[in-house]
Amino acid sequence: MSSLKSLDQAPKRLIMIGGKGGVGKSTCASSIALHFAQQRKKTLIISSDPTPSLSDIFELEIGDQETPIKGVENLYGIEISSDVVLKKWKDRFGPEIYEVVSSFASVDYDFVEYIGGAPGIEEEYMLNYILELVESGQYDLVVWDTAPAGHTLRLLHLPQIFLKHLEAATKFYMNLYSYFEKLKESVKLKKGKRTLLEIISGWENLAEKVVNFIRDTQKTDFIIVTIPEALGVRQTERIIRDFDEYQLKVNHLIINYVIQKADCDFHRTRKEMQEHYIRILNTQYASRIQLIELPLLPHEIRGVERINRISEILFRP
Ligand SMILES: Nc1ncnc2c1ncn2[C@@H]1O[C@H](COP(=O)(O)OP(=O)(O)OP(=O)(O)O)[C@@H](O)[C@H]1O
Ligand SMILES: [Mg+2]
Repeated sequence: MSSLKSLDQAPKRLIMIGGKGGVGKSTCASSIALHFAQQRKKTLIISSDPTPSLSDIFELEIGDQETPIKGVENLYGIEISSDVVLKKWKDRFGPEIYEVVSSFASVDYDFVEYIGGAPGIEEEYMLNYILELVESGQYDLVVWDTAPAGHTLRLLHLPQIFLKHLEAATKFYMNLYSYFEKLKESVKLKKGKRTLLEIISGWENLAEKVVNFIRDTQKTDFIIVTIPEALGVRQTERIIRDFDEYQLKVNHLIINYVIQKADCDFHRTRKEMQEHYIRILNTQYASRIQLIELPLLPHEIRGVERINRISEILFRP
């Protein structure tokens, strides 16, 4: 059985943890972050889950500000919702968009809300926000506990949807713009400001930069967490297919809740079922992805001591 040990030899800047709901993503993300913090790497764990659980796992209040995890040196946490990220986006781009557009069209500030409502803009900006944290140099490593159910997938589909929306919006506003250009006398265009097109191409560059970063296997590592059941296998297939399509490489697959010893009929039956699906996962992926089994422990994983137990298992030599 392999482990995450190889990550010690080839350190990354960003580790993304994905998988369907309830499979143990936050548990694994916390354990991975703890491991690197213990290796004296300044580590930030981010949860973008709408119902964040880091506070629960580490048993302290973590908010949308970077918070030191009590009792663990080098470990910081942040729980950020897409609302907050969207607000950051508006704070950053809103005034500029408004200023430019209102210089040639009669719009009120609601227009910024409209642009902010573009499909996928939250996730796009979330990625950008996280990348900024990674590149700020404040941390050696950022571990991202992504939200469940399709969130990661949507994120990957996103640049396309997003850019399409922007293209349509750009065309529309460029038409408006040229219309007003013709009426130049009545509209005084202020000089020295970025045009809408420049702003939008700036966003496109941003989106491209983000995609390039997450495609760079030297910097980014993807870990999928799954369960040894039909549902888990199917979901994993879907995720990996999507990743392939976007030229993103999944490096590790954690199979969680694996029953170790079965000493009653109930657990024997379950164990047999799990072994069946573990075999399928191995046959399908062992040649290109490291599979790591994580045993089902008798208790929930809360508090640094138990998270540490999971780290030891995930990073065993
Ligand atoms: N190997 C394990 N043994 C025992 N309990 C576990 C194990 N892994 C996770 N758990 C427990 O299972 C529950 C769900 O785990 P976790 O919150 O990490 O899942 P998640 O994938 O992040 O869920 P969500 O999709 O809701 O965010 C938690 O109570 C956690 O303590
Ligand atoms: Mg979670």
